[in-house]
Amino acid sequence: MIAGLLLCTTLGAQARKKDIPVYRDASRPVEERVEDLLARMTLEEKVMQLNQYTLGRNDNANNMADPVNDLPAELGSVIYFSMSAELRNYVQKRVMERSRLGIPMVFGHDVIHGFRTVYPISLAQACSWNPELVRQAAEVAAQESRMSGVDWTFSPMIDVARDPRWGRVSEGYGEDPYANAVFCAATVKGYQGDDLADGRRMAACLKHFAGYGASEAGRDYVYTEISRQTLWDTYLPPYQAGIEAGAVTVMSCFNNISGTPGSADPYLLTEVLKKRWAHDGFVVSDWGAIEQLRAQGVAADKKQAADRAFNAGLDMDMMNRCYDAHLADLVREGVVPQERLDDAVRRVLRLKFRLGLFENPYTPESSEEERFLLPGSLRIAEQLAEETMVLLKNEGVLPLREAKKIAVIGPIAKERWHLLGAWASKGRTEEVESVFMGLEKEFGERAELLYARGCDFDGEDRAGFAEALAAATAADVTVLCLGEKRNWSGENASRSTIALPEIQQRLAEVVSKSGKPVVLVLSSGRPLDVSRLEPLSDAIVQMWQPGIRGGRPLAGILAGRINPSGRLAITFPRSTGQIPIYYCRRPSARPHQGKYQELSSEPLYEFGYGLSYTTYDYGELKAETASIERGKKLTVTIPVTNSGAMDGAETVLWYVSDPVCRIARPVKELKHFEKRMLRSGETHTFSFEIDPERDLSFVDGDGNRFLEAGDYYVIVKDRKLKLTLAE
Ligand code: NOJ
Repeated sequence: MIAGLLLCTTLGAQARKKDIPVYRDASRPVEERVEDLLARMTLEEKVMQLNQYTLGRNDNANNMADPVNDLPAELGSVIYFSMSAELRNYVQKRVMERSRLGIPMVFGHDVIHGFRTVYPISLAQACSWNPELVRQAAEVAAQESRMSGVDWTFSPMIDVARDPRWGRVSEGYGEDPYANAVFCAATVKGYQGDDLADGRRMAACLKHFAGYGASEAGRDYVYTEISRQTLWDTYLPPYQAGIEAGAVTVMSCFNNISGTPGSADPYLLTEVLKKRWAHDGFVVSDWGAIEQLRAQGVAADKKQAADRAFNAGLDMDMMNRCYDAHLADLVREGVVPQERLDDAVRRVLRLKFRLGLFENPYTPESSEEERFLLPGSLRIAEQLAEETMVLLKNEGVLPLREAKKIAVIGPIAKERWHLLGAWASKGRTEEVESVFMGLEKEFGERAELLYARGCDFDGEDRAGFAEALAAATAADVTVLCLGEKRNWSGENASRSTIALPEIQQRLAEVVSKSGKPVVLVLSSGRPLDVSRLEPLSDAIVQMWQPGIRGGRPLAGILAGRINPSGRLAITFPRSTGQIPIYYCRRPSARPHQGKYQELSSEPLYEFGYGLSYTTYDYGELKAETASIERGKKLTVTIPVTNSGAMDGAETVLWYVSDPVCRIARPVKELKHFEKRMLRSGETHTFSFEIDPERDLSFVDGDGNRFLEAGDYYVIVKDRKLKLTLAE
């Protein structure tokens, strides 16, 4: 009886399925659905799928005027600035009902370091050396975003950046290719999970492909001079890692690379990304990047720009209005091959099927309480902020165990908005915990806080100096909070010097006249030149732009409840004049010469630097054998003991050096890292399993990996171990 019923039901379902087109049948494989849909589409419908317009800032019913209602029903995507599921559903309903084939739109939004629960900026996240925590933060960002109607984020940014004048240094994971690769993979996994159709996941977009971080003199949008060799060994590894981690889209860059803008480069977009790396997702342009090919001198008009970009492999036009206007003609004229058009459309449709948009085009409406600032999300925010902060100097003043009166001085002290950092999405000022608030909670009745702002971020007004000096003099210690506004970094926010404005330097000088110890707390979106502030400070904590939960972790570090564990993922120069300065330089012809005449050539704080309240003793770096063979792994170990009185988390950074190679390699290259909590007195043996093909090989200027016989060194701190690879 039951079997009979089941049979009837199955037969009934099959009969029903026969009536629906293959592309609407969720039980069919994605590729079949894509082909079926593609075969039904007209040229114009195909072209419209390859365009993204902006939805504007319309997030309530009163604003749903023309920009929203004018959106063509066949449009592929919108870049979406609102967080209302209602608006999304309104727009999507129009699309589903009015477009001939009912192809849902994909809604994109820049979710860079959190949506409403804003996390520390990405550069800070890298200083945590905790990819699992970074993955969790991305997972929360995806949950908050997708539940608010966002399917697709334009993140992670994985442009290796070695010029802190460039404002976008804050958006990536620092100067090192390997660190960018690891944090990229973690972020992609956090956003996408295993199933994009899950209503709490969203599609990632690797950007800006490629080499955007090499912007000349740190100025945005300008020329970049990158040899193919450097492209492959420095700028491409994070992208390859992101593709391997499953990132479903890529954004092309604004910059011109050695004569060819990235958005019109067939080598990058087609040969490398789609052919060699077999990426089956799509490439979206950066905002206006196709049209800008004219300004860059490689296209005479928008039509030629569309031709150059599309034929190079750029699939979707973000706000250029080049593809919608010209692509159909270019196909009709035979300038764009039909196969190329179909290939691009397939890629876009594939994402929509993967996101489950045909089955679930609408976002279930939920309350803010169900979506945002959930207790677990806030815990991650606090933990991540804690682990990103770097103790740069401590002459014994920290932790502040005895202080009864603490002066809290400076433009950052009570600041909330600026702690959010660039691209703070839907972060709200009133939800940010300031340094002062954190100190109040942390110290409670234990210490009295005296506050003086002292001065603004910039300008010349010294009217607050006297009050600041009085507060510092009356207190046992000063926490001097200096730094940058949030719009001093991010897009189009370059600075010609990375030192803080003179007024903040002067404030530090005035405060130091109190004769009391000064703890300098820095909030910034880039490494700063602190060489003139450093001598005035007894301790320095780099807090970055920590997002909404930085105050308490910072206070916890100052009070000694938290042992700082952040380590720099980017070098702090001594002066802007040292830029570019980064640890993995290629060796000099005369290492003992070629220094600056009037300044050290060494940075103030190097990559990987960061102090703790405890001490870690590194033992002997050992391998089972001194030789290593191709195709065989070898484990190298080092015991590390927490020899101080406080528990702490230590990050062991493992480097490889290949001093002789047919292509000169960097002096050392980070290949592995591990962070681990060590109780006071505990010893743990850290290990690195070396896979020679992966960890000792190098890449040539066309992406070919090679592994040469010879001597290699494994380096941990000041320990060095020689390994020989036989022929
Ligand atoms: C331009 C920026 O370069 C890019 O990172 C961002 O995703 C797009 N605008 C969209 O906002």
